[in-house]
Amino acid sequence: MLNIFKSKKEYKENFDLDMNNIPNHIAIIMDGNGRWAKEQNLPRSMGHKAGVETIRIILKEATRLGVKNLTLYAFSTENWSRPKDEVGTLMKLLVTYLRKELKECHENGVRMNVLGDITKLPQECQKALNEAIETTKNNTKINLSFALNYGGRDEIVRAIKLISSDVKNNIIKEDEINEKLVEEYLYTKDIPDPDLIIRPSGEQRISNFLLWQCAYSEFWYSDINWPDFKEIDLKRAIVDYQNRDRRFGKVK
Ligand code: IPE
Ligand code: IPE
Ligand code: MG
Repeated sequence: MLNIFKSKKEYKENFDLDMNNIPNHIAIIMDGNGRWAKEQNLPRSMGHKAGVETIRIILKEATRLGVKNLTLYAFSTENWSRPKDEVGTLMKLLVTYLRKELKECHENGVRMNVLGDITKLPQECQKALNEAIETTKNNTKINLSFALNYGGRDEIVRAIKLISSDVKNNIIKEDEINEKLVEEYLYTKDIPDPDLIIRPSGEQRISNFLLWQCAYSEFWYSDINWPDFKEIDLKRAIVDYQNRDRRFGKVK
């Protein structure tokens, strides 16, 4: 961990953040809810509930710092293998979050978006998501994307299918397939690649998140579980990011 401040007080007053080099797109693998709950002898569902509170905090701080795109990994294609009641809890929390936060998000210029096949989610979730997306579609302050029933491999398979169908129907020619075109067929077609990917909870793996898009992302890990993740942790990640040398394969 970077020693970027000497005391909590000093941090508050003098944090070494370069406001001219804020990552345009931050993506977060919100992990560690279950372990957080276990630490406090609470059921896993309480960890997920506490994790929702962190979303509020981090969205607010990211907006304040001028992050233009924030993507939150909320439910993977593999998470369907969890116990049915846990999946149910996660879906319910999503609906509650959207219902509760939509107004404030809208008032603060948040544009809501989703990555993943939401047609597999319960009707109630789809309805809440579609309403949130529709209500906020003209907002421009920050683009908040939830990755839901999202898997990087699933996204790439889907793109291949769509591309091959368009080739078959003479909408595009095989010769036209290049990286730029592939990007048009991904869930992320309207958002830039993540500059910074954050994973709390001590795990250092990608877990099928943004596989295509992370080609040149910077990674930042923290041992803190998501429900304990605070504004200062986001800033630590950004300061660390600002001290990296992104070469994109070139020489300096
Ligand atoms: C993240 O927390 C939430 C989801 C994956 C939906 P976890 O539930 O994975 O928490 P841990 O990893 O068991 O601590
Ligand atoms: C990744 O976390 C998925 C989300 C945060 C939504 P997991 O907890 O599912 O990942 P693994 O199983 O530890 O790799
Ligand atoms: Mg986990």
